[in-house]
Amino acid sequence: MAKKRLSKPTPRADQGLSLATRAIHGNKLYAFRGPVATPIYQTSTYRFQSSEDAIRYAKGDPSVYVYTRYHNPTVRDVEEKLALMEHGESAAMFSSGMAAITTAILAVTKPGSEIVSTPALYGGTYRWFRDELPKNNLAVKYVHADHLDQIDKLATTKTTLFYFETPTNPTLDLVDIAEVVRRVRSAEKKLNTKILVMLDNTFATIINQDPFRYGVDVIVESATKYLGGHSDIVAGVVIGKADFIKQVKGLAKHHGGCADPFAAYLLSRSLKTFDLRVRKQNENALALATALEKHNKVKQVLYPGLPSFPKYFLARKQMSAFGGMVTIEVRPSRGRSPIESVVRVCDNLRVAVNAMSLGGVETLVSIPVYSSHIFMSDEELGRHGVTPGMIRISVGIEGIDDLVADFEQALSFA
Ligand SMILES: Cc1ncc(COP(=O)(O)O)c(C=O)c1O
Repeated sequence: MAKKRLSKPTPRADQGLSLATRAIHGNKLYAFRGPVATPIYQTSTYRFQSSEDAIRYAKGDPSVYVYTRYHNPTVRDVEEKLALMEHGESAAMFSSGMAAITTAILAVTKPGSEIVSTPALYGGTYRWFRDELPKNNLAVKYVHADHLDQIDKLATTKTTLFYFETPTNPTLDLVDIAEVVRRVRSAEKKLNTKILVMLDNTFATIINQDPFRYGVDVIVESATKYLGGHSDIVAGVVIGKADFIKQVKGLAKHHGGCADPFAAYLLSRSLKTFDLRVRKQNENALALATALEKHNKVKQVLYPGLPSFPKYFLARKQMSAFGGMVTIEVRPSRGRSPIESVVRVCDNLRVAVNAMSLGGVETLVSIPVYSSHIFMSDEELGRHGVTPGMIRISVGIEGIDDLVADFEQALSFA
């Protein structure tokens, strides 16, 4: 195999290198004297050598650090690594996925703007759309994932954003990314306007799905999940064109959802094993989903990598592997309601942990009607495809035989 030569940094020093390599080395892919681990700049502010530094900053010199809400070397280091990993021009790290999502959306909207979105979203994002955006005179119109032809009718000259997730939470339904982009570009042309396409790639991650390849403009992600991967940080990221990220960072100064340097350090450290972890999660999830499909207490297994999955064909088209999230619908024993049964199953698991969140090395389970989809009416739950009999499983990297045995014994309590 031909040896790759690592030279001084060029605008795209990552070219030709694998995701695993970029996730380990970040922007240090050239002769570099310094620490192997990223130092933590645990400081709120920075000493100036003289007021000349303050003047340079005031004139717009980005190399002068002044205050950690604006920028921080540890945070910048992981932002550069994430941009390299996801083939984006630039990235902005935030204190949570929600801070990333809300700041990115506010950067592309103003009072009177309209957003078109698919309805099956992370509950926190959906509730922000429902409860907060109307207060700012921002309207959200929903288009079902199976009727993307409606985008043409819903988009108007006020539409500035198309926002979506795929796979969706918790039903793992898929939205055709290429089709979204095609329809949005056609609406843009007709209306002579600009509509940004923004995708929450938290569930799939760049390992399983590459949104920029399909023409998506901006990726948002909760780094709390797979990117962080150890259930020990809360963080978020926005990745896109340098101009847009500059705008997002400008807004972040006002809204204040800046990342903490220690969280940035932990994220950078976690990314070194991102490739290993997510590939193992993919493998375990497929094995667990396959085993659970045969269990008599399981009515349905939702996993994009199963041939029985309704959109298996789309999964194979736009995903390179199928992720670590599996949702099951439990078949209750006679005389028990679905919710009673799922509570009994979750309370009898010994290896898998009954906890919200996802993407960590440990397998977690949650009951969507009591977690991500709490505070929603029956009509809203129906629209999101969420039922009380569902258990969402975030599959970790434990021994697969232990996981299968654990779910088999817990399901006997359904
Ligand atoms: C798909 C998705 N997007 C965004 C978020 C929000 O991320 P955070 O909790 O880091 O704010 C979550 C949280 O569960 C999520 O599942």
